[in-house]
Amino acid sequence: MGIYDGQVVVVAGGGAGIGAAAAELLASRGASVIVSDVVKGNAEQVSSAINGAGGKSVAREVNVADQQAVAEFLNSIAKEFGRLDAIVNSAGIVGPTNTPLEKITAADIEKVLSINLLGAIWLTQAALPIMKAAKYGRIVHVASIAGKEGNPGMTPYVLSKSAMIGFVKAVAKEVATEGITINAIAPAVIKTPMNASTSEETLKYMISRIPMGRLGEAEEVAEMISFAASSACSFTTGFCFDTSGGRATY
Ligand SMILES: NC(=O)c1ccc[n+]([C@@H]2O[C@H](COP(=O)([O-])OP(=O)(O)OC[C@H]3O[C@@H](n4cnc5c(N)ncnc54)[C@H](O)[C@@H]3O)[C@@H](O)[C@H]2O)c1
Repeated sequence: MGIYDGQVVVVAGGGAGIGAAAAELLASRGASVIVSDVVKGNAEQVSSAINGAGGKSVAREVNVADQQAVAEFLNSIAKEFGRLDAIVNSAGIVGPTNTPLEKITAADIEKVLSINLLGAIWLTQAALPIMKAAKYGRIVHVASIAGKEGNPGMTPYVLSKSAMIGFVKAVAKEVATEGITINAIAPAVIKTPMNASTSEETLKYMISRIPMGRLGEAEEVAEMISFAASSACSFTTGFCFDTSGGRATY
């Protein structure tokens, strides 16, 4: 028996990295997982790997920055599967790194916010009516240590994640009596494709601040997501769980 038996879970940004690891872990614990991503082929690959391992999964192409597409997507899932127990939002981009504020453009800020922050808002907004009707729901947004501590040289990313953490605290309180919990996860630097384009200097800075002195693994973050998105996470909401190898002990 898995803790997710009978549950339907959407993993946005599930085509790679932390989202892919979470999709695989939750499926192995019994969830039917809808792997959604802006890169269709990646979502399909993760979904077939889950099905190949004996789990249940389908793939969908969804851009979380598109408010209408997100609403249509979640409504179609609730209709097709008859329920929507949890959403894990791991969709995100890093934007400029090692870039002083003077070189950051309005377009940089708009692009990062439209995916990292507005994506989280659109997913939550569309999920709430479905979850309120069911009097049950779990929403987990992957934020970042950058949003808690403010890594230098990557202002658009940092502000998207600190705003996401503030958003989670506020909206969690709005629905606290409705059987719905909404939490964030703040990983420090994790070994995923996202870091392929992060500058060497920024990576070194981030690892130097982790007491464990190493990168985290996507599977380690997935374990925390698995708890926060499960029915076991019943008296914790508006929280930002830490997966930072000891960097943030608060
Ligand atoms: N890797 C790290 O060091 C790290 C640390 C802290 C937080 N995070 C956060 O964790 C989350 C996952 O990161 P990751 O390292 O797995 O990155 P990743 O690049 O491996 O995966 C992110 C996924 O999101 C998808 N995506 C991007 N834009 C999208 C959009 N508009 N709509 C839908 N999907 C979209 C990508 O296609 C990709 O599959 C991100 O929100 C990231 O900010 C990562």
